[in-house]
Amino acid sequence: MAETTGEGPQGAPFFNKDRIKNSPEEEAKLETKHFWRIIDAFRLYRVNIQEHVKRAERQFLSLPKHHQDLLPDVLSNLARISQCADHNQDIMQAIIHNSFHMFENIEYGEREDPRKVRPSTTFDMDKLKSTIKQFVRDWSETGRKERETCYKPIIQEIQKIFPSDQCDVSKVSVLIPGAGLGRLAWEIARLGYICQGNEWSFFMLFSSNFVLNRCENVNSLTLYPWIHQFSNNKKSSDQTRPITFPDVNPQSLPLDADFSMVAGDFVEVYRDPDSWDCVATCFFIDTAHNVIEYVETIWKILKPGGVWINLGPLLYHFENMADELSVELSYEDIRTAIVNYGFHIEVEKESVHTTYTENDHSMLRYIYDCVFFVARKPADVYCNGREEEDDHLQSTPPAAKSPRREGTDTMT
Ligand SMILES: C[S@@+](CC[C@H](N)C(=O)[O-])C[C@H]1O[C@@H](n2cnc3c(N)ncnc32)[C@H](O)[C@@H]1O
Repeated sequence: MAETTGEGPQGAPFFNKDRIKNSPEEEAKLETKHFWRIIDAFRLYRVNIQEHVKRAERQFLSLPKHHQDLLPDVLSNLARISQCADHNQDIMQAIIHNSFHMFENIEYGEREDPRKVRPSTTFDMDKLKSTIKQFVRDWSETGRKERETCYKPIIQEIQKIFPSDQCDVSKVSVLIPGAGLGRLAWEIARLGYICQGNEWSFFMLFSSNFVLNRCENVNSLTLYPWIHQFSNNKKSSDQTRPITFPDVNPQSLPLDADFSMVAGDFVEVYRDPDSWDCVATCFFIDTAHNVIEYVETIWKILKPGGVWINLGPLLYHFENMADELSVELSYEDIRTAIVNYGFHIEVEKESVHTTYTENDHSMLRYIYDCVFFVARKPADVYCNGREEEDDHLQSTPPAAKSPRREGTDTMT
């Protein structure tokens, strides 16, 4: 196993990226290329924002002089946006500085031509801007309200199903696929459960590695997450207002906490049957090409008697992507499939209002009308030809860091 870098409170790696090396050389090459493409996006962030600012300046300066004279603060606000972008760039540099050797067992090697930073696509830049907003949701005081609506119902349900006064929570394993910047998984580990976050995107992985392993001092860092939003600002200063992070010390987990993050595509990485007591998905199931594949994977990896807790909308990520499989099912259809698979739905709320990386000063704000459910894989399902006992409360921990296979898909 290769070098370990990011470390948890026990010196345990927060990140490991296990692969079975049975893929062709070309696959490794493609992934390395992808790795550098995302590094380049982080590097080119400032350039991208400056281009936008320069365009805004040009547009303003093209107005008739008497119009410009009516707007004495516009250029100074654009200059301020520019400064904020410089500051954000410093954080982007710190993130990538800590990303080169972050995986326990994989090194991405040198880029083909180190002098060549390729221009980033709008798609990658949008992903990076969303990742910056994810810092607000997961690691700032500003995001607290949003976390209360999205993460709290999941955490409370876990505590209800696996109460610490009735079972040894240090033996209860919880998996969070699509963990984003890791706050939900971190909170669950803080309560004493074994918790593993899984994430696919290098944007998220680089950023969560940074915040989890390199940011100890509470509110010591600043980001300007709203400078990318040129529309729907009531005040110019709304666009340049800062957030500080992290609102808690991510290194403050109890010494015996069992918390890890694993990189890779959920359906490729998690193949070991009957491994987890709980799988919790938050704003995740709509990231699937085929959501039934997620249902199938969750069913397979849950121990008999294990639970799947879900909260989120159905904003299908691949809906508008040409050449991508995207099966856009209604909740009604997904529910039917879940029940037909054999899950017992134990809790169901069809209307939980939440936000997602909300800018609470914006003139345009989205509310998600989420579904929340708890679905149990019955304890008496037949596994390997024998009926399993309902043992979820005395469960043994899964092989959380056992070798996992990562797929051939590139990460985004
Ligand atoms: C909408 S975000 C939600 C993040 C987090 N759960 C939250 O509530 O803030 C969905 C996340 O799932 C990740 N993701 C998408 N497809 C994935 C896959 N196949 N395996 C693992 N993660 C995936 C994305 O990179 C993204 O970070």
